[in-house]
Amino acid sequence: MINLILFGPPGSGKGTQAVKLAEHFNLLHISTGDLFRNEMKNETPLGLEAKSYISKGELVPDEVTIGMLSNKVDENIGKVDGFIFDGFPRTEPQAEALDKLLTLKNTEITKVLALDVPEEEIVGRILERAKTSGRADDADETIIRNRFNIYLNETAQVADHYKKVDKFVALDGVGTIESIFEALKAEIEK
Ligand code: AP5
Ligand code: MG
Repeated sequence: MINLILFGPPGSGKGTQAVKLAEHFNLLHISTGDLFRNEMKNETPLGLEAKSYISKGELVPDEVTIGMLSNKVDENIGKVDGFIFDGFPRTEPQAEALDKLLTLKNTEITKVLALDVPEEEIVGRILERAKTSGRADDADETIIRNRFNIYLNETAQVADHYKKVDKFVALDGVGTIESIFEALKAEIEK
């Protein structure tokens, strides 16, 4: 199996690249943000709980997020050549839970690919997307900057978890979507 994590701040292009990589390498793309948005759309209890955090740009509690992610992996293991995780793990407990989950399935993370994009570029991209996304967390610059700060304060250190085991690779996330896709593919094929 190939199990990838796409890592990086909000708006860095994780979702855009994950869709392309999933198709190219025949992996299942799992975005915890997309899963939460689907639950919110369907107004499930999980969606209603998640909404109170997401609308402010804050992280949904670990136990909720880990449970949802574990279910998704359980449902699909054996059906695909691997997974591409987008927006998960975002905290050290999430990284530890993912390690355990994959070990139980006799597999592991292959590589973590991080997209480096500066804050001002991110704010510009997300405000542009806000015109069409309908995402409450895209529309307000204060919330976008809060998401970026939460990334710096709560998520960025997850990189160390994977640096310790030599699985972390950072790439420039500024450039054309195609050029970044080529760089990611080259890194995966190494
Ligand atoms: P999530 O959905 O994961 O959002 P995010 O990390 O904030 O990132 P985005 O989806 O906004 O950006 P992206 O990196 O996918 O970039 P994209 O490809 O869209 O999470 C949302 C919320 O859910 C969180 O805040 C939290 O509340 C909750 N949540 C989710 N996971 C959680 C977890 N594990 N634990 C706790 N809570 C969790 O690109 C962005 C834009 O830029 C697009 O418009 C795109 O077209 C454009 N673009 C892409 N690439 C380029 C490029 N190269 N050049 C120019 N523009 C580009
Ligand atoms: Mg995304």
